[in-house]
This record gives sequence, C-alpha cells and structure tokens, in this order.
Amino acid sequence: MNSIPIINEHLAQILNDFKDELLSNDLSKLKFKQRDVTKDYHYFCSTELLNELKGKRIVVQDRNPLCIDIKYTYLNELYLKLDTNLAKWDNQQGYIVAKPRTASLKEKMFQQNALASIYPPNGYMSWHTNTDAPGYNVLLTWSEKGNGFFRYQDPITKEIVTMQDKPGWNCKVGYFGKYTETDKLFWHCCGTAELRITVAWIFPTLEASLSFQNKIRQP
Ligand SMILES: [Fe+2]
Repeated sequence: MNSIPIINEHLAQILNDFKDELLSNDLSKLKFKQRDVTKDYHYFCSTELLNELKGKRIVVQDRNPLCIDIKYTYLNELYLKLDTNLAKWDNQQGYIVAKPRTASLKEKMFQQNALASIYPPNGYMSWHTNTDAPGYNVLLTWSEKGNGFFRYQDPITKEIVTMQDKPGWNCKVGYFGKYTETDKLFWHCCGTAELRITVAWIFPTLEASLSFQNKIRQP
C-alpha cells in the first residue's frame, strides 16, 4: 500500500466541494450503530484481534463497522453528484473500467463506481480482506486533523503497518488479493478519533489504476 500526493487541482476541487457540502448537512441525523460500547477502535484494529480472527477464518468484510455508506442515507444525492463529477474528471477513461463491489454486471458502469463512507469520531472498520472484491484499490480519505489511520498486515512479511492520516485529503493505492491469492491476501482495517470520509474505487487492472494515479499526480 502506497501513499500518493493529490496534485491535480481539479480533483482536489471536486473532493473539497463534496466534503464541504457533506459537512454542511446535519450529520447528527445519521444512524451509526455501535456493536459493542465497551470496545473502541483500538480494539477493533488491534493485532490481538487480527490474530484471533485469522485463527478462525478469512473475514471478507466487516459486517458491523462503525461507519455509514452515504449511498444508503439521505445524503445519497451528494454521492451521485460526486460520482458524476469524478467520471467527468477522468474523461470516463480509467473510470469506465472501475468495478465497485456493489455493482452487478447489469448495472451501468457510471452509476455506482465510487464508495463513499463517513466514520464518526471513534469510528472504525475492523480487520477484513475484501476477498469478494479483489483489484487495484484507490482510497481517498479526508479528516480535518488527521487523527485517524489505515492499518494493514503485509501479506508477505506479516508486518503490521499503520498509515497515519494527514490533515485534509489523503490518497492510498494498493492491490487487494482474492481468496486463492494467499500471498496477496490483504488484511486491513481503519480507525479514527474524529470524523473521517472515505471515497474508494477498485480497478480491475494495473493499467487502469496507473492511468488514474497519473491523473491524480498531474496539476
Ligand atoms: Fe476494505
């Protein structure tokens, strides 16, 4: 997993407009569900929990994260606007082949490409692998002060790596393997002390991902 700088001003504008509009809403209306009030994000992102989970099975998705996909909320229109703006920004090139985990083959490519989630203060997504949605991920996250992190286990060295957020927008890219790619199984999680926004794509090919990354790096 690598961090790459967001140099493209147009993209930064699209993301900031999305973030500003999102934050201008009454987010207290969002219904976050906390599965266990006695445990916080440090627990759900701990090495101890990872080892415990790995001893049992491969966790594909965290079914009870403390975050919300805005697609399923009253903020859905903001999500659709972001999706349209990003498609235009990318000239529908790399974007056209992006494959979201939520889209069936029958769905139009441009309709549901981005995933956009909000994490409340102390929100988290516990350890999981995304083996149901393998591919080249681009993760864009925002928080005001950078009091959050993305954590993963290196599939080869088994080292636990924590990528601390920086204030504002952050971009990370990396390959998340499928069930049978045991050397690329990508256990990961995230946690945050403050409100955090995530926007993500999954590209099916390295070429598509690189084309997208090049655009992010260009002014
Ligand atoms: Fe994930």
